[in-house]
Amino acid sequence: MPTEDTDTGDPMPRVRFEPEGIEIEVPIGTTILEASNRAHAMVGSACGGVCACSTCHVYVKQGLDDLAPASDREEDIMDKAFDVRPTSRLGCQSKIESDTTVVVEISPESRKAFLDEHPEIREALKRVS
Ligand code: FES
Repeated sequence: MPTEDTDTGDPMPRVRFEPEGIEIEVPIGTTILEASNRAHAMVGSACGGVCACSTCHVYVKQGLDDLAPASDREEDIMDKAFDVRPTSRLGCQSKIESDTTVVVEISPESRKAFLDEHPEIREALKRVS
């Protein structure tokens, strides 16, 4: 259930990243990629979030209609992604527009890109598995 910012009273939508189940509350207007960075979820961002790479590809399992619509540019870049589905979005382009809960499944290509960008985390995960 979304809540309010304790300081401002502004609504704080919730984002859950699967399969880990990591959750975070963020202000309206935050992108899924920004939320993942704050939550330390494993969403890749090879281009730095400027809609040029598709490594932030996620599947929006809940809250798709609460996101800003995809632009023509996002749809063009999505053509580079693997296993594109009706629920696919680029995390860097998906601004949360409503006080809601958004559930995101990180695509395998995005997780791989994240681990390529953060080899220290890949090594740490190897040690604990
Ligand atoms: S981070 Fe490159 S397209 Fe989103």
